[in-house]
Amino acid sequence: MAFTFFFRDQQVLERVVEHLLPNLAGRSRPRIWDAGAAMGQEPYTLAIMLAARMGHFAFDNLRIDATDVESTGQFARMIEAGLYPKEELSRLPEGILEKYFEPNGKPGHFRVIESIRRRVVFQRHDLLSFQEIGDGYLLVLCKNVLLHFQPLERIEVLRMFHRALAPGGLFATEQTQDMPSELARLFQRLTPNGQLFRKVEGGGCAS
Ligand SMILES: C[S@@+](CC[C@H](N)C(=O)[O-])C[C@H]1O[C@@H](n2cnc3c(N)ncnc32)[C@H](O)[C@@H]1O
Repeated sequence: MAFTFFFRDQQVLERVVEHLLPNLAGRSRPRIWDAGAAMGQEPYTLAIMLAARMGHFAFDNLRIDATDVESTGQFARMIEAGLYPKEELSRLPEGILEKYFEPNGKPGHFRVIESIRRRVVFQRHDLLSFQEIGDGYLLVLCKNVLLHFQPLERIEVLRMFHRALAPGGLFATEQTQDMPSELARLFQRLTPNGQLFRKVEGGGCAS
């Protein structure tokens, strides 16, 4: 079972949301790719943070594509159900459990409310296929995944994210993950001490 939890790397996600919100304004069908999303805690956290800051109409047009290599269907089922054990939810920030989860008949569990669940769509995807799931993404989030790859694999995965991003789209990863110097021309760093980047156009042939 992949290690993850709700509101993991909250500071990173706060910065992501802060930079993303202006890009979301006026978009008819904004899309986000959460790559290596595990059992859904991360994409649901992001959806909750965005729901709290966006108007209903704009939020209802948003889609978060949550992908993971897991192949038994277990992650897909968990994300679709949005059902999580109570112990996992004991350290949520104040007010989140009451507002975004509901008891659902399964003892000891809470379910993510439907308006949040509808925004997150799971699909199986292997990042090491180096084939993007689509393009035009306003944000690609890939946390605590790249560290498992070899340096050359990491570079190819980051090139794939660059192709998947819309012009000016954002890429975010965990604090301890560095951008390889080979790709410095593809991504502009947005925060001096964080791993949040904006896609740079025309840098696609950087080696
Ligand atoms: C430690 S979890 C990170 C979950 C979440 N992103 C977070 O930060 O809490 C790593 C996830 O990466 C997924 N993963 C590992 N290799 C992958 C690959 N080649 N393609 C897609 N996902 C992969 C694992 O299945 C696992 O769910």
